[in-house]
Amino acid sequence: MKIIVVGAAGDIGRAACAELGARHDIIKVGRKSGDVQVDLANRASVDAMYDTVGVVDAVISTAGDVHFGPLSDFTEETFMVGLRNKVMGQVNLVLAGIERIAEGGSFTLTSGVLDRDPIRMGTGAAAANGALAGFVTGAAIELPPGQRINVVSPGLSDVSVPRYGAWFPGHDPVPSKRVGRAYAKSVEGAITGQVIIVE
Ligand SMILES: NC(=O)c1ccc[n+]([C@@H]2O[C@H](COP(=O)([O-])OP(=O)(O)OC[C@H]3O[C@@H](n4cnc5c(N)ncnc54)[C@H](OP(=O)(O)O)[C@@H]3O)[C@@H](O)[C@H]2O)c1
Repeated sequence: MKIIVVGAAGDIGRAACAELGARHDIIKVGRKSGDVQVDLANRASVDAMYDTVGVVDAVISTAGDVHFGPLSDFTEETFMVGLRNKVMGQVNLVLAGIERIAEGGSFTLTSGVLDRDPIRMGTGAAAANGALAGFVTGAAIELPPGQRINVVSPGLSDVSVPRYGAWFPGHDPVPSKRVGRAYAKSVEGAITGQVIIVE
């Protein structure tokens, strides 16, 4: 399969690429890194990425910024960081890709643990994750026949502990190999409309 991975250079993206790269042709995409660049928050940039890459069998996104901070400090603008980047960025990737991916192709998005197991300062991420679960549930029944969509919802990855571990007291880090296999389940398997929890 020819697979786009947006966010390939990140902690989660590297896990997806390590798992799928042995069996498939991966096109690594990032905002600044990778074979091709895109800004997911900009629909014109997403269209240009698909034009550059051509027809693919699967689209994976492991990208999406959110704002972290105490609930009392959140503003509409800081909330919009996650809604614009993590939610609408990944939604745009699907909307722009429906007409462009191969017959029987799939979309795999990324959310995360914080809408089911919250941490302090994580409301923006929790809201974005919940929105993505709803989007996937709704979109799965309306995609063209044969197309599939899922969202992977990992716990804190073991490779991300040095960066984020202090914010996740008591959370059991998830081995990145298992995170990678969740993307294989979505891309190579048959399920659709699912939140694939890795914890
Ligand atoms: N790390 C974890 O343990 C964990 C657990 C659960 C959920 N998640 C979620 O998974 C996602 C990725 O997390 P991560 O830790 O892997 O992040 P990361 O290491 O910071 O990597 C993010 C990747 O996404 C790309 N990117 C960011 N914004 C983009 C945009 N607007 N357009 C295109 N590419 C963009 C970056 O591109 P460049 O390489 O060019 O900078 C980078 O490759 C986040 O939404 C996060 O909430 C992470």
